[in-house]
Amino acid sequence: MAEKTAVEMKETILKKFAEVFGEEGAKAYFAPGRVNMIGEHTDYNGGHVFPCALTIGTYGVARKREDRKLRFYSMNFDHLGVIESSLDDLKPAKEAGWTNYPKGVMWAFEERGYKIPCGMDLLLNGNIPNGSGLSSSASVEVLTGFILRDFFGFDVSNQDLALIGQYSENNFNGVNCGIMDQFAIAMGKEGHAIFLDTADLSFEYAPIKLENAKIVIACSNKKRGLGDSKYNERRSECETALAELQAVVGINGLGDLSEEQFETYKSAIKDETRVRRAKHAVYENQRTIKAVEALKNNDVELFGKLMNASHTSLQYDYEVTGVELDTLVEEAWKVEGVIGSRMTGAGFGGCTVSIVKTDAIDSFIEKVGKAYKEKIGYAADFYVVEIGDGPVVL
Ligand code: GLA
Repeated sequence: MAEKTAVEMKETILKKFAEVFGEEGAKAYFAPGRVNMIGEHTDYNGGHVFPCALTIGTYGVARKREDRKLRFYSMNFDHLGVIESSLDDLKPAKEAGWTNYPKGVMWAFEERGYKIPCGMDLLLNGNIPNGSGLSSSASVEVLTGFILRDFFGFDVSNQDLALIGQYSENNFNGVNCGIMDQFAIAMGKEGHAIFLDTADLSFEYAPIKLENAKIVIACSNKKRGLGDSKYNERRSECETALAELQAVVGINGLGDLSEEQFETYKSAIKDETRVRRAKHAVYENQRTIKAVEALKNNDVELFGKLMNASHTSLQYDYEVTGVELDTLVEEAWKVEGVIGSRMTGAGFGGCTVSIVKTDAIDSFIEKVGKAYKEKIGYAADFYVVEIGDGPVVL
């Protein structure tokens, strides 16, 4: 994936910007993508997550304009050419395509009372595969917020950039996502994952020291399609289950319950499917806490086992995997040298994350890749990734 270095990517985008918009006064930026190691579908349930920022992400070049026009160009969607809009027209529109993400963030700044004084030309080039579940959209959101802060001196922290990005995704782009993706991207730290309690946004950086092992991402290449509506459906199932539980126990979120408490109170949930959804949220949160503990004790094996258990729970109780992700994970589990493997992100397609011993990576890619192609009919892509920092000026 990262065939090009950051320096080469910067050169490429500056050159393209000059071609599309002209040379003067442009500035280059980068915001990462993210992968979640464990703690899936817990962030809108007041639970813990454990994501990290990647060294792949979205590269952008921007320049202020003298008028209120917005001109956008994405090298990932070259065929769309320049898409024009205006600061006076910050409304979501289907035909605006990917530009709904930067526009949503501009809208969200204005909603918070930060008036954007002039328009801009913005060119992007991402090296996160689109729709892969590595948060290309949150990366664009945080990048846009970062550029706006840099241009206009808005008094917002990186954590605010995450919250503004999430607000725009929820209220401009209609996906009821939690805070994990934007937070992981805005707050990323090289070599570290972020142990975040989504109930109060307290967090801790935990070093990921994988001796003789690496993080490998397998991208299913399944187009996500219905993903967003299913995502919102899961979220509302959890909300209903929470309301049912609140009739018998004083909690603010499913993340407040231990496994034992859940077993005691679960009969308050009046539907078998909702019991399983809530069970996943509760157990996954506890698994995440245990996994971070395991890592602190240098017990990567236990961390891997908890990753595997996370996948099983997402497969059977939360039902967000599908045959593509299940195949990638089940085939990974068969390979010697795989410490743990699970789907990552929202699910319904997208990617898996695995911890693989360095000397087993080639055979992992070969074996899982072959079995996947035979069963699913098209190829998966594999990426050995590194954990990087949050957004930067290049
Ligand atoms: C998506 C959302 C996140 C989170 C994950 C599932 O990535 O954007 O907020 O809910 O799914 O863990």
